[in-house]
Amino acid sequence: MTPPLLELENLGVRFGGLQALDAIELAVQPGEIFGLLGPNGAGKTTLFNLISGITPPSRGRVLWRGSEITNLDPSRINRLGIARTFQNLRLFHSLNCRDNVLVGLHRQARLPWAAALLGTAAGRRRQQTLRDQAQHLLELLEIGSLAHQPAAALSYGDRRRLEIARALASGPELLLLDEPAAGMNPSEKEALRLLIRRLQSQFKLTVLIIEHHVPLMLSLCDRLAVLNFGKRIALGTPEAVRQDPQVIEAYLGVGGVV
Ligand SMILES: Nc1ncnc2c1ncn2[C@@H]1O[C@H](COP(=O)(O)OP(=O)(O)OP(=O)(O)O)[C@@H](O)[C@H]1O
Ligand SMILES: [Mg+2]
Repeated sequence: MTPPLLELENLGVRFGGLQALDAIELAVQPGEIFGLLGPNGAGKTTLFNLISGITPPSRGRVLWRGSEITNLDPSRINRLGIARTFQNLRLFHSLNCRDNVLVGLHRQARLPWAAALLGTAAGRRRQQTLRDQAQHLLELLEIGSLAHQPAAALSYGDRRRLEIARALASGPELLLLDEPAAGMNPSEKEALRLLIRRLQSQFKLTVLIIEHHVPLMLSLCDRLAVLNFGKRIALGTPEAVRQDPQVIEAYLGVGGVV
């Protein structure tokens, strides 16, 4: 039997006296859109930090296609096929959008820098190919017309799209999205939902998404896990999670949100 794409085994992390994550078990299958829900401070971003190698776990293991990747450095994990966006956006604000995506493409392409520096014909052709790829990614994210705008000039929603374009530039199999709809209005959120589905099928992606907007998550995700105070309190289909009494108490509120 093929192993899950991503597997978390008994994963935990402490920050001083705070148990930010405790005994997290999760298996994400190839092609799934998998959602992480939970109140502020539940440990969702911390979980992304553990998976992407930014924070070392205090215990437990992270497995990628059945092989352990716990404690590998973030660039190595990225090269294995895991890319992410950041809740607090990590764009180069003075660079234009195309160059922000180019940064991601250069990392992935490992451009023969000597040729590029020497300005050889091969180097210039390679640069042009990468620029075309960057433009293509911006167009997929529906911000192609903003290619020459500095990232700082973009609306909040468009910056979130640019973050996704930059993450896709590394050619991931697993895309981690940390609150991609934050700051978007309802119609932007709906457009984003359709976009994530389209990208998932076009790039044969597996998606792990954190988002507070419950209706979006219930309609987008194949399965969901809910975290509360660092513990996984529920796991299952959107319908099962929505009706889970513990989830209603901890997160959705009496009567539920949806
Ligand atoms: N590097 C760190 N050092 C100390 N404490 C941390 C660190 N990173 C996160 N925490 C704490 O761990 C807990 C979980 O934080 P985390 O950012 O993962 O929550 P979250 O579920 O993403 O919340 P939100 O929905 O507000 O983004 C919080 O109490 C936070 O203050
Ligand atoms: Mg967070």
